[in-house]
Amino acid sequence: MAYSEEIRKRRTFAIVSHPDAGKTTLTEKLLLFGGAIHVAGAVKSNKIRKTATSDWMEIEKQRGISVATSVMAFDYADHKINILDTPGHQDFAEDTFRTLTAVDSVIIVIDIAKGVEAQTRKLMEVCRMRKTPVIVFVNKMDRDGKDPFDLLDEIEEELQIKVRPLSWPIDMGQRFKGVYNIYEEKLDLYTPSKQFVTESVEIKDINSPELENHIDPDLAAKLRSDLELIEGVYPAFDVETYLKGDIAPVFFGSALNNFGVKELLDCFIKIAPSPRPVQAIERVVDPEEENFTGFVFKIHANMDPNHRSCIAFVKICSGRFERNVNYKHVRYDKWMRFSSPTAFMAQKKETVDEAFAGDIVGLPDTGNFKIGDTLASGENLHFKGLPSFSPEMFMYIENADPMKAKQLNKGIEQLMDEGVAQLFTNQFNGRKIIGTVGQLQFEVIQYRLLHEYGAQCRWEPISLNKACWIESDNVEMLDNFMKRKVQYMALDKDGRNVYLADSAYVLTMAQHDFPDIRFHFTSEF
Ligand code: G4P
Repeated sequence: MAYSEEIRKRRTFAIVSHPDAGKTTLTEKLLLFGGAIHVAGAVKSNKIRKTATSDWMEIEKQRGISVATSVMAFDYADHKINILDTPGHQDFAEDTFRTLTAVDSVIIVIDIAKGVEAQTRKLMEVCRMRKTPVIVFVNKMDRDGKDPFDLLDEIEEELQIKVRPLSWPIDMGQRFKGVYNIYEEKLDLYTPSKQFVTESVEIKDINSPELENHIDPDLAAKLRSDLELIEGVYPAFDVETYLKGDIAPVFFGSALNNFGVKELLDCFIKIAPSPRPVQAIERVVDPEEENFTGFVFKIHANMDPNHRSCIAFVKICSGRFERNVNYKHVRYDKWMRFSSPTAFMAQKKETVDEAFAGDIVGLPDTGNFKIGDTLASGENLHFKGLPSFSPEMFMYIENADPMKAKQLNKGIEQLMDEGVAQLFTNQFNGRKIIGTVGQLQFEVIQYRLLHEYGAQCRWEPISLNKACWIESDNVEMLDNFMKRKVQYMALDKDGRNVYLADSAYVLTMAQHDFPDIRFHFTSEF
């Protein structure tokens, strides 16, 4: 097959974490290894730099948080690495969920002191749903934290995934000495203040007295007994089980001190999947097929009021994408070609002539694309698997300027297509309800409606707890339910029935009283 070499070299993944666990620091260290950046601190300042060089995210500038999701690509050891960045702020969790539909694997960063946190739990849920292979990096070993065995138990319990340590720490905090790299059977020693592994010795037999030449006898004894316990408790590492998403290998290190990062990367390129087959409604698409296919997983708005342009981020699922070649926009049944597709090499955005399965291309757009749209070399394919989750917060959206009703409706429609939030239309009174995962999104919507569409909106509180997509084979019961709950029934953007429950209690009662109705908390079921 023509492009198989290119495609097998690719590793497209996301690093996710609860804010502050060290995602940005780890990303930066990976970029340093790839030679994509040369000084530490470049990624951190990227949050500022991004807004300085483009006007994409005016809001970002104002609030100092990274709203954007972008791509960082670099070459490392004959592999092409594509890291998809995800917004750190949890109000933009939906963006992160969607980005996870475009990756082939994930690295989860966990802080040794804080353990599994709320955001990590949610993200892992998405990975589990999609069977995405996950590697865990336990960060901040230079600080005191939880006992590593306790943390592994916590990960298994809280994230509902089996784990398998592939490295093991030797002490922690100020006494942190390094790790035994189980995967490569070597001892990697750490010196505080040095930004790399200061000594690396192969020790295949952990019982060899050689170990005592490098670490104190009591630490050596502890390491031996820890490793014995690991071998006894955890199954041997098996790549296939990892690739199926059934087991997560675990590494320990310190991103800030660049310790354990290269080891993680070296193992990652060996075991992490290259682009995987993608399920479309019609059939499974293999990345090595010659014909180009891809889908839009993210739309990044240009916040400049004078140009309402966006960049649609397309994940290439198969074949080769070429500049200035006609591809079919399946939903529109229209051929389109792109004269300036961009790729994201390191931190630069540049025009590309070609890209392969696993890569992400950015297509300048003026409102043609919606999240989930398919582009293909001709075949009528529809990629699936971009679920909406029940929002956490709800507000009625009202028009505050009667002269601009049209603009408001257009703005709402386009922002929803971009995936900024979800729109529900009440079936009883026709009022529009916007659902989000965080307060910030309401502000983003109001700001963008005004600046990009010249429309003004007003929010009116509504007390709702959850949106549930409902279905049933029992038509009579469904009908009955919808009549009884008529004030709480809405349609989502695709015209599907959604029950908006006003409290957890009412929802539980409804589930109890209407046993033949299935209540779904995501739109994909
Ligand atoms: P995030 O993207 O997941 O939100 O986390 P980020 O990398 O920004 O890291 C959060 C904080 O944790 C930063 O400190 C960072 O320096 C620190 N950190 C990351 N890795 C390690 C590690 O291995 N050991 C220790 N001790 N700290 C680590 P900050 O004070 O918030 O920012 P800064 O002033 O250092 O930039």
